[in-house]
Amino acid sequence: MSLRKVTIKSIIEKHHNGEKILTITAYDYALAKIVDACGLDLILVGDSLAMVMLGYPNTLSVSMDEMIHHTKAVSRAVSNALIVGDMPFLSYKINKKEAIRNAGRFIQEGGAEAVKVEGGTDICKTIKAILDADIEVMGHIGLTPQKIYRFGGFMVQGKTFETAKRLILDAKNLQEAGVFSIVLESIPWQIAELITKEIDIPTIGIGAGPYCDGQILVLHDMLGIFTDFKPKFLKYFGNVRESITEALNLYKNEVLKDVYPNKEYSYEYVGDQLEDLKEWVENNDLNKEASELSKTMEK
Ligand code: KIV
Repeated sequence: MSLRKVTIKSIIEKHHNGEKILTITAYDYALAKIVDACGLDLILVGDSLAMVMLGYPNTLSVSMDEMIHHTKAVSRAVSNALIVGDMPFLSYKINKKEAIRNAGRFIQEGGAEAVKVEGGTDICKTIKAILDADIEVMGHIGLTPQKIYRFGGFMVQGKTFETAKRLILDAKNLQEAGVFSIVLESIPWQIAELITKEIDIPTIGIGAGPYCDGQILVLHDMLGIFTDFKPKFLKYFGNVRESITEALNLYKNEVLKDVYPNKEYSYEYVGDQLEDLKEWVENNDLNKEASELSKTMEK
């Protein structure tokens, strides 16, 4: 399959043609390479890596340096998908200058082509400042995990008239601020549908039902690698954890039973001095030979 480089312009075109925007997260070279070859439009180096790659209890602990480290690995692997770097907690809310500098690091050091920030009307001024620095921005509203302590946990958002109204207005303001797309996370599907109808830029849903313009899932969740918890919206599209476990048990057994590695998986010495070498080993004091070699290295 020959794939074309995805750009923000081509994502917007796809959206205008009524095509779905196919999005997923990735955090490392090997998996990003597989994802890219499958023709996904957009790869988010999400701050969810805090949990699924680094084992933190939530996304709040991941640092800018850790995010850049993973973004670099992904951008080394990807040649087709659009890469978006997820700005971590506190990297864009202290002041606009820091927000621009940190967004710039994703582009300049990480190789991302845009950044994502969590928040609605409250961060539109910051988004405009980042855009003024020529850095494209993706929005994210609903269950924004950087606010879990305010929300009181990973809870569905927009369940009341007032909170749903706020989500719709936030989406409008994000569009007005200039984001190219908005992630809608964990909100009732009817509210996601309303938002999707009311704005012109693509909505990307995660736990937001079938009427969004595109979908995103956390790669390690949908592959069944990360199983610490399972939200209602999560479907396992594979059972990679089971495949890895099977492979490791097979490896253990084959090593224990001397099945692996056999000669098929070994290098052969093809020189004609093997007998001489064996004779040398038998007839020499190897401890003495080794210590003499060390002495020559010290000189
Ligand atoms: O960090 C992340 O992976 C995300 C997606 C769930 C949208 O923000």
